[in-house]
Amino acid sequence: MSCRSILVFVCVLFLAYLGTSIAVDGDFGEYFDILFGDNRARIEEGGKSLFLTLDQYSGSGIVSKSEYLFGRFDMQIKLVPGNSAGTVTAFYLSSEGPHHDEIDIEFLGNLSGDPYLMSTNIFAYGEGGREMQFYLWYDPTEDFHTYSIDWNSQRIIILVDNTPIRVMRNRHEIGVHFPTRQPMRVYTTLWNGDSWATRWGQVKIDLSNAPFIASFRNFTARACTVSPEPSCRGFSAAKKTKDIDPESKIKMQEIQEKWVVYDYCHDLRRYAHGLPFECRKGNLISE
Ligand SMILES: *[C@@H]1O[C@H](CO)[C@@H](O)[C@H](O)[C@H]1NC(C)=O
Ligand SMILES: *[C@@H]1O[C@H](CO)[C@@H](O)[C@H](O)[C@H]1NC(C)=O
Repeated sequence: MSCRSILVFVCVLFLAYLGTSIAVDGDFGEYFDILFGDNRARIEEGGKSLFLTLDQYSGSGIVSKSEYLFGRFDMQIKLVPGNSAGTVTAFYLSSEGPHHDEIDIEFLGNLSGDPYLMSTNIFAYGEGGREMQFYLWYDPTEDFHTYSIDWNSQRIIILVDNTPIRVMRNRHEIGVHFPTRQPMRVYTTLWNGDSWATRWGQVKIDLSNAPFIASFRNFTARACTVSPEPSCRGFSAAKKTKDIDPESKIKMQEIQEKWVVYDYCHDLRRYAHGLPFECRKGNLISE
C-alpha cells in the first residue's frame, strides 16, 4: 500500500467509526417510526431530539422499528411544563396481540405547582394491574432526566437517573407470568388522558394551553433485537441474568420509603378477594 492509500484507508475506517457511534446513540430517525399524530411528532437536530406535541386535535407518538427481547432502554425526557393536567407522557415497551406483555413508565400531568405522578405498571401474558406510583424528588419539567427500563429473563428494573426505583422479579415458580417470550417494541407517546389521569379524572385538560410539548433526547438501547434482524448490541450473556446489586437495593428502598404514593401490593380495597399472587404474604420478596 502506498502512503496515500493507507491514509485513505484510515480515513474510511474513522468515518465508519463515526457513523456507527452516531447511529448508536439516540438517532430517533434511525430507530423509530411515527406511530400517530403526523408532524406533531418532530425529530430534529439530525435525529438527536424528539418533540411530541398534543393539541386540540391529537397527541403524537413514535414506535421503534425493531422488536426487542431483553435489554436496557434509556430515554432522557423533559416533561410538559406549566399546567399539564390531563396529559400523559409515556415511555414503554409492549408486545402485540392477545396476552400481551408491557412495561410502562407514564407521567401523569398536573396543575401548575402540583406534582407530576410517575406511574409504572407491568403486564405479563395480558395481565396488568401492577401499578406502583411515585412523586419525583425534582421538577421533571425543568431539565432532562434519564428514565430506564432494564429487562432480562430474571427481573425488570425501572430506574430514574440510574437509580432503581422498582424491581419485578420472575416468579414463575409460584405461578406468576413474567415477560420472557414475546418481543416488544419501544413506544414514546404524549396523549390526552384526562378521563382518568389527574386526580382520577376530576381535573380536565385545559386546551387553551395547547400545544403541550414534551422533549426527548439520547435514546439508547443496549439490547437484543429479534426483528428486522436478530442481533445483540451491548447486551452480553452476563446481563441476561444479572441481578440488582446490594448497593442499588438500598438506594431503591430509600426512594420507595419517601416517594411511593401507590403500591398495588398494598391495595386491599381493590384486591379485596385476595392480593395478586406475588404480593401475598409468604410470596413477597421485600426489596
Ligand atoms: C396532582 O396534585 C394533587 C394535589 O397535590 C395530588 O393529590 C395528585 O396526586 C397529583 N397528581 C395527579 C396525577 O393527580
Ligand atoms: C446518553 O445516554 C447514555 C446512556 O444512558 C449515557 O451514558 C450518556 O452519558 C448520555 N449522553 C448524554 C449527552 O447525556
